[in-house]
Parts: sequence; structure tokens; C-alpha cells
Amino acid sequence: MSFRRLAVPFVGVAATLAFVIPPADARAPGNPGAQGHGQPAKVPVAEGYGGAVATVDLDASKAALSVLKQGGNAMDAAVAGAATLGVTEPYSAGLSGGGFLVYYDARRGKVVTIDGREKAPQAMTETSLQENGVAIPFDAAVTSGLSVGVPGGLAQWELALRRFGTLSLKQALQPAVDVATKGFTVDQTFYDQTAQNAARFADFTSTASLYLPNGAPPPVGSVFRNPDLAATYRELGRRGGDWLYGGKLGEEVVATVKSPPVRPGSTRVVRPGLMELSDLRAYRALERAPSKISYNGMDVYGMAPPSSGGSTVGEALNILEALPKVGLHEYLEASRLAFADRNKFVGDPDYVDVPLKGLLSDGFAKERACLIGDVAMPNPATPGSPDGSYGGCQIEGKPLAADETAKTGESGAAEKPEGPETTHLVVADRWGDVAAYNITIEQTGGNGMVVPGRGFLLNNELTDFTFGPAAGDPNLPAPGKRPRSSMAPTIVLKNGKPILAVGSPGGATIITTVLQILVNRYEFGMSLPDAIAAPRASQRNTAATQAEQAFIDRYGAGLTAKGHTLTIAPGPPVGEIGAATGLEFLGRGKVQAAAEPSRRGGGSALVVSAKP
Ligand code: GLY
Repeated sequence: MSFRRLAVPFVGVAATLAFVIPPADARAPGNPGAQGHGQPAKVPVAEGYGGAVATVDLDASKAALSVLKQGGNAMDAAVAGAATLGVTEPYSAGLSGGGFLVYYDARRGKVVTIDGREKAPQAMTETSLQENGVAIPFDAAVTSGLSVGVPGGLAQWELALRRFGTLSLKQALQPAVDVATKGFTVDQTFYDQTAQNAARFADFTSTASLYLPNGAPPPVGSVFRNPDLAATYRELGRRGGDWLYGGKLGEEVVATVKSPPVRPGSTRVVRPGLMELSDLRAYRALERAPSKISYNGMDVYGMAPPSSGGSTVGEALNILEALPKVGLHEYLEASRLAFADRNKFVGDPDYVDVPLKGLLSDGFAKERACLIGDVAMPNPATPGSPDGSYGGCQIEGKPLAADETAKTGESGAAEKPEGPETTHLVVADRWGDVAAYNITIEQTGGNGMVVPGRGFLLNNELTDFTFGPAAGDPNLPAPGKRPRSSMAPTIVLKNGKPILAVGSPGGATIITTVLQILVNRYEFGMSLPDAIAAPRASQRNTAATQAEQAFIDRYGAGLTAKGHTLTIAPGPPVGEIGAATGLEFLGRGKVQAAAEPSRRGGGSALVVSAKP
């Protein structure tokens, strides 16, 4: 009998289950990420058997791997990895955040998703992100209590473990407790993200004392410990999620949202938030049906609304499938069209009628594909009509004027600034279960406020809403509404079995990064590691396409000749798009885990065993 099939796995060993995680800086030269005699090294690609993981971070990958090696399944390992990212990647992930998880459940042969998206408090209305009829400045909203969504991540972990895992929350949190207690080695990425946030972190007493020890970012190479977070995770393990969703921890979150811990003497205007304990009490993570399209003989599963990830990646792939040939020009144009539709139609399906079936239908894709010619189409592309009646190659209506698009949000022109925020991990286990998991606290550094004494930052997820005024926009705030996301954890199946899983951080560039990796892999024939490493460009129905320098150097002249304008991606870091992780299933039980070779400092791929 396999371990996961035990009715109450880990019973009897729970108290002594050590989850011994080797120190982060352990190195085993020549070890390709597999478990040999030494400790795993931080490498971006690993191939082997018995399970695999890829994250942006070696400690988080090791945490997930330790769970797999001790008999946990992919869901257990995904939660353990996510909790550890809350320690080592705290500016992207954490207890106050949310996420979307796409899971292939091997036993049922089924893809399921779990929505842990943050929600607006009940007191939030369509105009809460406006003052005197105009949108609050974006940066001011980010660093505020107003932008804090009701956290969904913890409820998601509990639901995920209950429905698909074998560990208790306490067991799944243990690797993260160990890393928070023993510490991790500060690398350049952690240092840079702290430095980029230093001015606002300094304005909150609780944040400055944690992340600016001695008044400055912790130096590269130093060991960073977070005993407050270790204690918070330990207490959560004992008390369960109710401690946040209605209990004392929830009261402290609400207090921080309503009375931000601003440093005496700070001149920063910090708007308080609207969250109440009742909002936390009411929060539920949801199991939702995945989005699904058929594409070149494969089935691509993604995250349905309120994420726009599955619908936009899916629509763009359908458009590409309808074209006679696919190159980078077609990739950019398909993305442009899919974003026009995403911006017009996608929001929280509990509040707006999202025409998902139409958006993902082949008939609609054919109608949209007709608009792609030899040169870039005029900007902005007009949204289509995914209404079930598709009649060939017609442009519906006229393109909107620029000022009109800015008001309606019907093109990418009025989108919020997109940075490298969020993180993504993938895990597979020996039974064939696969998790693709995006987690986020929105901006890098969230809203900048650590909950005093608890060791974690608050999210600013509600800035993912359209601030308005924007009549008819599907993504305006409302009481209890989930803001539209771009997170796109994706699992590809062929003949009913997973062949690939992939995802990325990066705000709305998540969608284009996942799309481009799939195009690189399945249209251009690259290996998964090459598809991830290849230079990126992101077209989101804007006049200029954001791109990495290497993309501009390699393809700029050819694409400019076709009417595209390429501009360097704004970052930070400038010129970097996404930080993907993925898995490819190579047959006969062999799995390839792949992370970034250099973006975000390079990621970490590990496998359970180098040999079958
Ligand atoms: N906050 C990033 C996203 O949900 O797309």
C-alpha cells in the first residue's frame, strides 16, 4: 500500500517527523539537483524519478522535496513549499496573500482547481478606490490599508490538504517553521527587493524592525531569521485557520489594516482599510472547474475566472491553432486580441457574466484569427463578440479612441503598472499527482506593513481591481468581490495524462510568459528548459510590446519591419519578464523539472531520485 492511501497518514510519526532541511548554502558540485551523497545544489534543471519540484528558491524547493521524500503527495509538498516561500520570498508570498492552484489528481484522473483569491471587504464599493470622482494614485493605494484583500491563502491550504493532501496543516507548515527559525542566506534578489522597498518599509515600525535591521536591508550572505513568523506558523499549526478567520490573529490583521503602524514622524499619507473580522469569518476558499481548451491534440487546463489566466492563455492558443503558420508576429497578435477580450469580459464570475465558453470556443478563435495579417494590427484591438454566433472575418465596430479606452478599460492602455510580483511553484509526486501553484501578496512587498509581532506582510491585492470610474468594466470593486487576476498555473494533458505543467509570476505578464513558453515548446519545438530561458516579449493590447533586451536584439528588426514597436520591459529589474517554473513528463516515470537559469537570480529544480 502506498503511503498516501493510508487513511490517516503520518499518524504516530507526526510528533517526531523531523523534516530535516539541509542548510541553504550546502553545495554538492556535480550534483545535477538530484539527491546524491551531498546536499542538493541550486540548479535550474533536474531530471529524475519519484517526484520533482521547481520554485524560485532552493530552500522552498528543498522543503517541498523533503515532504515528497517522506511520503507526502504533491498537494502536501505544494503547501509546504508555499509556506516556505512565505519565509524566503516574503515579498511575493505569505500568510496574508492568496493564490490559484491547478491540480491533476492522479487517482481520479481529473484536473481540479482551488481558488484562494483574496476578496474585497463587505464595506468596499465601486468607488472605494476613487476620491472626488478620480482614481486614487496607484502607489498611494498600494501602500494603504484600503488595498488589503481578505486573505485567501490559508483557507486554500486547509482546503487543499483536506481534499487532496495527507498531512495536517501543522505538518505541512513544519518545513517553513524550520527555515524561519534557522534562517536562510540572503541572496542578491532578496537584498534588491528589500532595497527597492526600503523607503516605504522604513515608514512602518513593524516592517522596519523586521526587514531593515540596523536601518538597512540585510546584507547579501547574511543569515536572515524570522522567529515571529516561525511562532505564527507554529501557533497556526496548533489552532488551525480559525485563528486567522475570526480569531486573535484575525483581530491583529484587522487592527493593522485599520490603524497602520506608521512610524511617528513619517509624512506618508496612509489610507486606512475597510476590513472587519466578519469579513475574515466569512471567507471561503473554493474548488472550481478548470478552464480547458484542446490545442494541437493536447488538453490545456488553467485557472478559470476570477483569474483571467486560463481564459486568456486558452483563447490565444486557440487563435494560434486557427492560423496557417505561427511565428513571433502571430504570437504577439494573438496575445493582443486575447487581452482585448480579457479586459472587456473577465471579472469575478459571482458578480459578472463571464462568457467563458465563448471566449474559449474554436468558432470565436477563428473569427479572431482572421484579424491577424502580415503586419501588426492597429492599436488598440477591439474586443470581439464571444456570443456563440461566429461568421468569419469581420471586425466588430471601430477601434476605440485612446481616451475612451482609458475610461472603459477595454484595452490594455489603462492597465496598472505590471512588475515581477507573485511567485509560482510546480510539484509532482510518485503517484502522478501534479500541482501548479501561483501565490501572491500582489506588489513585491505587498502593502509594506508587517502585522506587528507576527512576521508577515499584508497583501495589497485589491489594487488588482479597476479603480474607475469605468462604466461597464467587469473588474470594478464591489462588496465581497474577488479582483481579476492574471495568474495562470497551467497543466497540459495528452491522452488524459499530464505532459507538462508551467506557470510564472509577473502581474499581467504572467499570461504572456506562460503563453510564450507554451508557444516555444509546442510551436517552435524547444525543450522546456530552453522554452523557459528564451528571451521574452509581452503584448497586452498596448501600442508598444514590452520586451527583454535579448528579445529586442534578436528579433527586434524583423518585428519592427512588421509594424511592431518594442520597448524594454520596465521591471524592476528593468528588462526582465517573469520567473517561470515548470515540469515536463518524459515518459517511463521520468520527469524534468525546470526553473529560470538567471531571471530573479535563478530558480531551483529538484527531483526525488536521479535513478528509477
Ligand atoms: N496579483 C497578481 C495577479 O493576481 O495577477
